[in-house]
Amino acid sequence: MPLVAARLYPSRSRIGVEPMRQIASTWSAAVVGVSALPVEVEVDAGGGKENFVVVGLADTAVKESRQRVKAAIWNSGYSCPEGFITASLAPADLKKAGPCFDLPIALGLLACSGQISKDNLAEWMVVGELALDGAVRSVRGVLAISLLARDRRVRGLIVPVLNAAEASAVEGVKVVPVRDLREAAEVIDGKAVDIPIVVKKLANGQIPRAENPLGVDFSEVKGQEAVKRALEIAAAGNHNVLMIGPPGSGKSMLAKRLPGILPQMTLEESFETTRIHSVAGLLRAEDSLVRERPFRSPHHTISDIGLIGGSAHPSPGEVSLAHHGVLFLDELPEFKRSALEVLRQPLEDGQVTISRASGTMTFPARFMFIGAMNPSPRGNFEGRPNGQASRRYLNKISGPLLDRIDLHLEVPAMKHEELLSEEPGESSAVIQKRVERARELQRKRFGPNSSTHANAQMGPRELRKRVPMDREAKALLSSAMTDLALSARALDRILKVGRTIADLAESEKVLLDHLAEAIQYRTLDRQIWG
Ligand SMILES: Nc1ncnc2c1ncn2[C@@H]1O[C@H](COP(=O)(O)OP(=O)(O)OP(=O)(O)O)[C@@H](O)[C@H]1O
Ligand SMILES: [Mg+2]
Repeated sequence: MPLVAARLYPSRSRIGVEPMRQIASTWSAAVVGVSALPVEVEVDAGGGKENFVVVGLADTAVKESRQRVKAAIWNSGYSCPEGFITASLAPADLKKAGPCFDLPIALGLLACSGQISKDNLAEWMVVGELALDGAVRSVRGVLAISLLARDRRVRGLIVPVLNAAEASAVEGVKVVPVRDLREAAEVIDGKAVDIPIVVKKLANGQIPRAENPLGVDFSEVKGQEAVKRALEIAAAGNHNVLMIGPPGSGKSMLAKRLPGILPQMTLEESFETTRIHSVAGLLRAEDSLVRERPFRSPHHTISDIGLIGGSAHPSPGEVSLAHHGVLFLDELPEFKRSALEVLRQPLEDGQVTISRASGTMTFPARFMFIGAMNPSPRGNFEGRPNGQASRRYLNKISGPLLDRIDLHLEVPAMKHEELLSEEPGESSAVIQKRVERARELQRKRFGPNSSTHANAQMGPRELRKRVPMDREAKALLSSAMTDLALSARALDRILKVGRTIADLAESEKVLLDHLAEAIQYRTLDRQIWG
């Protein structure tokens, strides 16, 4: 046995004693929710019977890394130590999932068998899945891992080349992308020659933006001026919206154009959303960051878990993928009642908490909600929106959900002349400018340290402070409440929307006109809707 060990452990044989077990260590990371936590990977090899164990609350994918690691080492032209191998992932009480520990374990084996420098390896953070031929495959959650590497001041972060763009979005960390195990080993030994990567660094914190990335524009929507105006208000105050109208009136078309008039994402928002998309494995290799507000429109057959997040190892659902963007539920009454119920927490708190056997996890979920529906199952208004069938259909949407929607919009059928008109409407860019100006006023009013960023997020106390009512306003609201049978909740919605309308008009005071317009957006509270 000493003979074998002497071959494998040249550094020990130099000392000339019975070779002791050799331990190599490096840093890696486990993604929990949308954050990364440090994991120390220790590899110990030598002596004993042929075996390879991975310890430290590893799931099946991590345990299977044994086979991948061994094959990758041999196929990259190195030799795998014989005897008893232990790979330990610490802290032991943290669940480790997925194949991202393949590469650090393989490098640990190379280091403890003296094939690369052990001291150098200990200074790095490493993530990557290995293919049997030694190629390094991409992993999830790399933006969060890169932020961790920066905070822990490791010498550098070795990532799969496909994750390079994402990892490089973080300033202050040396990111080294590798294509295979051999390249990674050469980086550790300081032998790697320039590895070509194409990473567009962010220039002074600005997010580079593609020209009309969504490929759709408000100018394509003919007529529907009242609806467009209401969507502009929604965007300006971040208000939730429900659109009701007959088939073909343009509801889906209008909703798709909403992200294009929301304010441009800030770098901080972009980071938050990217972390979620990265953990869900949705970030494309060429993208370092999610730069555009997401537009998520799940089908009505979606499961509660798909919507809210979950599964065995909790992963983000549609509400979190829509974070800082738009969640569009088309054909709203077709969604299962339970699915609409689970929307309540994120709509209220801007986050979701998922409890599973594997633990409780909280994901951010601050989105703008937009729902669309036909007035009745057959699609038409049946003259007016007060038919029996209409009422029953509408009642499928629960009161608590309706309570959280600030604007109710009737989208009327298009007139032929309007559809055939050649006149282009206002472009998304022009509308977005007005929206951004209104948001700027809100930011100034709430101050930089407030958790309220837009009018829709105001609590009751803030609302009373920001929207003072004079006698005339009180008279108007009181008569509206009687005539339209509005609830106290509806009154709060009206005040919030009134504040936004005033902001769009750049008026510090909320005037009667502003409130009167806001009242129009409460159609569903009226008695005729039941
Ligand atoms: N205002 C409009 N301007 C230009 N085209 C329109 C307009 N409204 C509808 N259209 C055309 O009609 C098509 C159908 O519109 P859309 O799918 O948005 O309707 P919808 O209200 O979502 O209908 P449904 O209730 O059946 O889902 C659009 O793809 C578009 O070509
Ligand atoms: Mg539609």
